[in-house]
Amino acid sequence: MVCSGNTYVLKYKWFVDCLSQIVYIDMKKIYNRGDILNNVCNVTAVILAAGEGKRMYSKLPKVLHKLCGLSMVEHVINSAKEIGCEEPIVVVGHGADKVKAAVSGVRFVLQEVQQGTGHAVMQAEEYINDGDILVLYGDTPLVSSAKLMEMYEFHKQGGYGVTVLTADYEDPTGYGRILRNKEGLIESIVEDKDTDQETKVIKEINSGMYFFNGPQLKKALKKLTNDNAQKEYYLTDCLHIIRAEGYGIAAFKTDDPAEIMGVNNKLQLAEAADIMRKRIVRKHMLAGVTVIDPGNTYIDKTVKIARDVTIYPGCILEGNTIIDEDCIIGPASRIRDGILDKGVSVQNSVIIESKVGEGTTVGPFAYLRPGNVIGKHAKIGDFVEMKNSNFGDNSKASHLTYIGDGDVGSNVNLGCGVVFVNYDGKKKNRTTVEDDCFVGCNVNLVAPVTVKKGSYLAAGTTITKDVPEDSLAIGRAKQENKEGWVKKLK
Ligand code: UD1
Ligand code: CA
Repeated sequence: MVCSGNTYVLKYKWFVDCLSQIVYIDMKKIYNRGDILNNVCNVTAVILAAGEGKRMYSKLPKVLHKLCGLSMVEHVINSAKEIGCEEPIVVVGHGADKVKAAVSGVRFVLQEVQQGTGHAVMQAEEYINDGDILVLYGDTPLVSSAKLMEMYEFHKQGGYGVTVLTADYEDPTGYGRILRNKEGLIESIVEDKDTDQETKVIKEINSGMYFFNGPQLKKALKKLTNDNAQKEYYLTDCLHIIRAEGYGIAAFKTDDPAEIMGVNNKLQLAEAADIMRKRIVRKHMLAGVTVIDPGNTYIDKTVKIARDVTIYPGCILEGNTIIDEDCIIGPASRIRDGILDKGVSVQNSVIIESKVGEGTTVGPFAYLRPGNVIGKHAKIGDFVEMKNSNFGDNSKASHLTYIGDGDVGSNVNLGCGVVFVNYDGKKKNRTTVEDDCFVGCNVNLVAPVTVKKGSYLAAGTTITKDVPEDSLAIGRAKQENKEGWVKKLK
């Protein structure tokens, strides 16, 4: 990010302060079940993310591909954290450095050679203690904390050695199958490549997500062998090992296949994003946001929106955007890391890393580049571009104006076609226009320059010198009328 002047640094700090005030979802309130959550706090999540993801055909490691503003593995990490797993363990291998650089708030273990899901969990052995272990995959971004919570409750109540999350699939090809006995209890999991005619037709599949009793998992991992079709250490084999030790094992079936949907290629990434987008928009609508066309509204998971906000079609709300009550957004607007106070209206505009004060209108067709702080009841009209600037309360730039590196006070009127000439070919300079100034149409302000309080700048003037308080600055060639000139020509 190119920034000039230290005001930007100040504003940026302010921006970060705003973000740190965001209140994260308190799952205890949502579930109102302190008892279960206290148990959950003793769960360690192990997220498998060492695989290559060949079918993405990408330079980026598979789990770093994004949907709704976060990478797949970040969505999984957040679901684990929402149920109380602090600092999940992420098993990395392919593209380990890139994954480590992109993800924070977790502990990493390296699986140098990928020898199967059981082998991946073995790498996290030092973290397997008395508590329970939740195993998740970095490429199943739609798993929700609500589902995990339900599953954990089931796991705890049954006192099982392991509980596996399953689902019925019409086409179970490629997945491990759940083998149940006559009583309907799970006995083991058979990998697709190890199925026979009888087991091939089983529709109940293994999602690859489990809650394990820590000590039992630790013991089982020691007994794993790679004596199978793929010569891999299968985590699934831990189930029958634990069962053979005399502990209960259980399957927890979900009827929502999205929860366990794995992403292997860009088509599935788009399908998963579509499901997640619907979930996000739905959540906002149920919390009091009016969305005119939910299917044509794109909101990142990280965006916060207050009630009574109206969102018109074609809007893209990204990053750490925060939108306060009664704002009207759109149509066709993109806001990334924007903070919009109450009652702001934005039409067909782009707002990036900027704060907009209460009751201000933006657009149509305005472009707010990073680093602006705009006051209350201001107007940023059509074809106005602004960057790295402060713009005071009740000030107006109604049309066709460029405000770069400016400090504009309150009650200032910028006429049509005003240009802040901020760049001298080497560096960016600031322009100050103090309170109550009137800047006529087509004025150039050649920075660095200051216009003191209450001054008028005549239309067409190029301002190169500071203007004292309450003055008129006029700098244009005197007009001369040559009467009868046209007639003479003819
Ligand atoms: C696994 C399960 C299968 C289940 C399926 C669900 C086993 C043996 N099989 O099969 O029963 O139906 O998931 O999708 O567990 N990974 C590592 N290191 C490795 C191997 C895998 O980190 O050495 C990670 C991968 O990055 C991926 C996850 O583990 O995120 C699953 O690996 P994958 O190879 O896709 O497992 P499957 O063979 O599909
Ligand atoms: Ca897989």
